[in-house]
Amino acid sequence: MRLFVDTGSVSEVEEIAAWGVLAGATTNPSLLAKEDGDPGEIIRRICELVGGPVSAEVVSSDPAGMIAEGRALRELHEHVTVKVPFCEQGLAATHALTAEGIPVNVTLVFSANQALLAAGAGATYVSCFMGRLDDISVDSGQVVSEIVECFRAGGVTSQVIAASVRHPEHVVTAAQLGCEIATVPAKVLRQMLDHPLTAAGAERFRADWESRPEFGDWLRALVSERATATRD
Ligand code: E4P
Repeated sequence: MRLFVDTGSVSEVEEIAAWGVLAGATTNPSLLAKEDGDPGEIIRRICELVGGPVSAEVVSSDPAGMIAEGRALRELHEHVTVKVPFCEQGLAATHALTAEGIPVNVTLVFSANQALLAAGAGATYVSCFMGRLDDISVDSGQVVSEIVECFRAGGVTSQVIAASVRHPEHVVTAAQLGCEIATVPAKVLRQMLDHPLTAAGAERFRADWESRPEFGDWLRALVSERATATRD
């Protein structure tokens, strides 16, 4: 499963992209509304940082407006994927944009039926919102599982994005269920780093190594010999 970061913040993308784990990013109007600066510049910068698909969302409610916004957003950068909200108008816009070769991420999907309609309209990605399903006491794992199963059974090539990810367990569930992508807020990606045994283990390795100061001298000399050999 590939990992996207779900954010409108360039500094968060800079931070997480440096880890080397990102395959893409998703933004939405709410996330971008929290940021200062020109949204187009933010989207372009995120595209450059992740070097992969970056979803930027249309806000019109009619197909013609969505299509016009989608074309314009796509021209911001070759990595832009146009994000279209699930609805009748969104399906029509998805169909038209896809026919022009523009990748579309259909967002706000909460059921397998909606996912099948989005796929039928040609969506490259279908985003199922796990956290918002849990908020209304619907088992998000069950819905994601139905979507993945329906797509696999019917040979659908649209990729499932697990979205509205609220905690690391959502990411594990999405991977186990066969989602191609999870789009994850920076806060949750940071939580995924942590395990108390990792920190304790690293501290033990450091202390044991430092109990033999000559080992430190040996490793520094090894690095320095290599640097000299590579320079010559
Ligand atoms: C997906 O692409 C959306 O941007 C996002 O995951 C929404 O999540 P939320 O429910 O935390 O707003």
